[in-house]
Amino acid sequence: MDSIIVRGGAELRGQIPIAGAKNACLALMPATLLSEEPLTLTNAPRLSDIRTMTQLLESLGAEISSMQGGKVIAMSTHDLASTRADYEIVRKMRASNLVLGPLLARAHEAVVSLPGGCAIGARPMDIHIEALTALGAEIELKDGYLHALARGGLRGNRVKLRFASVGATENVLMAATLAKGTTLIENAAREPEIVDLARCLRAMGAQISGEGSATIEVQGVDRLGAATHRVVTDRIELGTYMLAPAFTGGEVECLGGEIGLIGAFCEKLDAAGIDVTETEAGLKVKLRGDRPRAVDVTTEPFPGFPTDLQAQMMAMLCTATGTSRLEEKIFENRFMHAPELMRMGARIEVQGGHATVTGVDRLKGAQVMATDLRASVSLILAGLAAEGETVVNRVYHLDRGYEHVEDKLSAVGARIERVSA
Ligand code: UD1
Repeated sequence: MDSIIVRGGAELRGQIPIAGAKNACLALMPATLLSEEPLTLTNAPRLSDIRTMTQLLESLGAEISSMQGGKVIAMSTHDLASTRADYEIVRKMRASNLVLGPLLARAHEAVVSLPGGCAIGARPMDIHIEALTALGAEIELKDGYLHALARGGLRGNRVKLRFASVGATENVLMAATLAKGTTLIENAAREPEIVDLARCLRAMGAQISGEGSATIEVQGVDRLGAATHRVVTDRIELGTYMLAPAFTGGEVECLGGEIGLIGAFCEKLDAAGIDVTETEAGLKVKLRGDRPRAVDVTTEPFPGFPTDLQAQMMAMLCTATGTSRLEEKIFENRFMHAPELMRMGARIEVQGGHATVTGVDRLKGAQVMATDLRASVSLILAGLAAEGETVVNRVYHLDRGYEHVEDKLSAVGARIERVSA
């Protein structure tokens, strides 16, 4: 299995191109199941999660070809070959559950394995099930699979989500496009990836309004047509690389970055002493002074501070002056990176969903283990600041969510390489 070796201390300077959003692309791809006509995505990221989704959709009958080295994904699902999403694929990635809504809408039935994915908490499917049930689906759990049936097709309804789940909002939004009548999704997630999905569905002919707010209205239509859609910028990859100069000094410009995607995060960077300026091409980031300052962070649904940037922020705060408090409100078990950062000399105390981080002068290189996708990259960032060599083992999680991380960082001056065991 590959490892990444980072030798700390090099200042970073230059530009980093930010890819299209993994989490947007993973919701956009299943939209192909809603239409007999082609759906083409541009600005797609080149990641193993995208290959997993490709495999899953192909098993359901989609024809998929990728062009420009994977940046363009052309999909067409003229006929569905199956309505069963098998455990063997679904266990690799939780976002596989996003085929449930589209299959129910198009074929009026679906059998979908309960998902796997990052080990960052229980991550049940109850909100998805309640939402699709409100549209008239009957859903049963048997042998680890959800068996869903919509006799006579889905019917529009008022759907109030108990929690603004991103995946449940996406599933019900896709399902509602082909339901009979009007659906109102209340307490909908407001993430930019939801807005991107709604835009794409609208380009395919769906009648949707209110995306980006807590109430989305969908008027069902009989069929959806063809579309070409550009995937929104990955705000999590963006935030990750925006943090890099806070570890190393220097100045980095993240190409394609926009403050609107990541406002709450930028406010915390400012409070930590990191300057963010908008440029023609993206966002330029630079640390004021020698070390960042402590800040308190609470993760929340969008527009709050994203849980997917909590690990990276924690790594940065390990090098800050003062004591920071972090609260994780989205996933109950998302501090697994803390013990690994402590192997590098960080001072962190974790109690339930809270962590207290007291900054140290210098982290020290060590052998560390990547436990989930965002944890992996937080260890790489920490390695950029650490004295000596950091070896991040088990990086397969990293390849699920970051394309060419070692190339992007070495292009701006980091000493980083991948070694195959
Ligand atoms: C998506 C993102 C993930 C991000 C998360 C929160 C994708 C592919 N993944 O995941 O990177 O960290 O949003 O921003 O877009 N929950 C339930 N029951 C449900 C559904 C969710 O209890 O039926 C809980 C989860 O256990 C979790 C919380 O709700 O504690 C958030 O989950 P959700 O917003 O659904 O996240 P995902 O869509 O899985």
